[in-house]
Amino acid sequence: MTNIRICELSVNFGGLAAINKMSLEIESGDRHAIIGPNGAGKTTLLKSINGQLSDIKGTIFLGKQEITNLPIQSRTKLGLGCTFQHNNLFSDLTVIENIYIALQNRLGIANHLSPKQSILTSMVSESHQLLDTFGLSMVKNQVTDTLSYGQQRVLDLAIAIAMNPKALLLDEPTAGMSVLETTNMIQIIEKLPDTVTLVLVEHDMNVVFEIAKHITVLHNGKIIGQGTPAEIRNNSIVREYYLGNKK
Ligand SMILES: Nc1ncnc2c1ncn2[C@@H]1O[C@H](COP(=O)(O)OP(=O)(O)OP(=O)(O)O)[C@@H](O)[C@H]1O
Ligand SMILES: [Mg+2]
Repeated sequence: MTNIRICELSVNFGGLAAINKMSLEIESGDRHAIIGPNGAGKTTLLKSINGQLSDIKGTIFLGKQEITNLPIQSRTKLGLGCTFQHNNLFSDLTVIENIYIALQNRLGIANHLSPKQSILTSMVSESHQLLDTFGLSMVKNQVTDTLSYGQQRVLDLAIAIAMNPKALLLDEPTAGMSVLETTNMIQIIEKLPDTVTLVLVEHDMNVVFEIAKHITVLHNGKIIGQGTPAEIRNNSIVREYYLGNKK
């Protein structure tokens, strides 16, 4: 079943066509990587799906629901999550407080003065499960600002998952990370529930080939190749434009 369907998407910045009449279908539960050189339009594509860009042409569906012109919050409610290169953490709150805020939003109790005890109990238990799954238990009471960059990106991902997304957009989740942090991030992404459709923008080909089931290659706002990792490795156009001599 298709989870994200993009039809004839065009995004222009002044005279520049960042996305040029692009159509793309991503199946439910896919691990779909978007690759391409700097400026290819990868982030613009994710921002179009996420609702950060207002002036776009074409249509975007999440499941059966058209989301092209919906505000970001409505897309979040429909099950669209994302982490971008610059995270949206509350940097002066602790790790667990950041997770509580996400869970309170999802559970609809953020503005309740006295939520039911049973809801609070299950929220606390879920927050501990998340901390455990994402390897953050040891730092749960640390102010977020004091975490390493890698830990902050892991927390950002934990918060996105706390919202129970059907589809999750990840823009360069390992950018700027050490080798150890990258390995940890790959393991975490691989353990995400397979019901969640992942759309992953990534420059690190090791990460892409490790995680992706399907790959779409962009160049100048257009798709120049699509296929499984094995097909992409052997696609001569992709190799010429992007992979160079990498095998
Ligand atoms: N807000 C903006 N205003 C003007 N031009 C923009 C804007 N955002 C992106 N662009 C331009 O659109 C093109 C696509 O940018 P985009 O950020 O989508 O590329 P990208 O594939 O994500 O690149 P990178 O790998 O460097 O992150 C680039 O030429 C970029 O300079
Ligand atoms: Mg980008």
